[in-house]
Amino acid sequence: MARTRKNAMPLSRRSFVQSMSAGAAGLWLADRGREGALFGGARLEAQGSSAPLLLSSNENPLGCHKDVLAAVQDCLTEAGRYAFAAADEVTALVAKRHGVKPENVLLGSGSTQILRTATHVFTSKTAGLVAAIPAYEECASYARLMGHPITGVPLTSRLTMDLDALQRASKGAGLVFYCNPNNPVGTAIGGSDTRRYLADVLTQSPQTTVLVDEAYFEYVTMPGYQSMIPLAIENPRVVVARTFSKCYGMAGLRIGYAVGHQDTIRTMGQWDNIDPISVMALAGAKAALAVPATWVAAEQQRNAEARAFTMRWFADRGFTPTDSQTNFMFVDIKRPSKDFRDGCAREGILVGRDFPPYEATHARISIGTMAEMQRAVQVFERVLAQPAKAAAA
Ligand SMILES: Cc1ncc(COP(=O)(O)O)c(C=O)c1O
Repeated sequence: MARTRKNAMPLSRRSFVQSMSAGAAGLWLADRGREGALFGGARLEAQGSSAPLLLSSNENPLGCHKDVLAAVQDCLTEAGRYAFAAADEVTALVAKRHGVKPENVLLGSGSTQILRTATHVFTSKTAGLVAAIPAYEECASYARLMGHPITGVPLTSRLTMDLDALQRASKGAGLVFYCNPNNPVGTAIGGSDTRRYLADVLTQSPQTTVLVDEAYFEYVTMPGYQSMIPLAIENPRVVVARTFSKCYGMAGLRIGYAVGHQDTIRTMGQWDNIDPISVMALAGAKAALAVPATWVAAEQQRNAEARAFTMRWFADRGFTPTDSQTNFMFVDIKRPSKDFRDGCAREGILVGRDFPPYEATHARISIGTMAEMQRAVQVFERVLAQPAKAAAA
């Protein structure tokens, strides 16, 4: 399947692995920017349903803990003041959570701000960005805006990051975006393989920084997966991004953070600081850091069960999902993602956008509640019963 998939790419492997042309980068990147418009249109198309089922943006379907909501409401009396003290307090609480010092933590307006800051600070016209393709597009979109080179490294046949190819491509990079687990494919790399990759890159490419994105950390169930925070604290050229948007159900509040060596955090903080973070996001994060561990465990279990149910449903019908370690799944639906997406939207369900180079065969589906997934598979059944159009063959 790997070979077929790679051969099926609209661009040659060489053009991915080497610096991408503006056109190729456009293919990869344009969709992120189009997400709002795409889903806006699809919402309208979701006939007969005023509230479409959103399985499109990898959110926690139950939202945040009630204490987070209460804290956000209570903080509104602070709305007239800047949030400097609250930012210091949340920085200290995040540091405590990870057993590090406040100097090792930089808050961001979502981890998006961290991803952009890292791209801004560590890439240049001569030392570009390297990332798997596909990977979460934020860094590549931002590098592209700045006119910095981007190198995309194809995935393996299991749709995991190809660490050997990534290592070769990483030499001379300004920044490697190491998305683990990787969005949109949902697969993850184990701790020992990640450490080996990082050790090799750090030895062979002294000017390269690696940004390890752990947005879906809480949802990983595979044995051997590890956070790279301990390594980042030791090594100024590794930095980890985390977010409250996923398991903590706070995507709309916008808060995430970086953990790293104090020199790296200082460098990033000089470029962009806590100003874009609102009092509401800070109040929410403070409350989220205090929710009982049992609440997080329940969310992890809820997701794992609904994910297993949906993956089994597809596998039983001959549609192969990847080994998802996240709150979404990437499935070979044997037809263009757009056909599937449009068919689902007509029945009130929104699923993920196109993810080149897999847009002719794969769909990304976020995991809702078990009841939502049971409802969704009935729609999937009808949509997939339609013959695939010739283009997918
Ligand atoms: C891998 C990954 N990193 C980062 C983000 C950005 O999330 P946020 O800015 O909400 O923290 C996302 C969002 O979906 C993601 O999938």
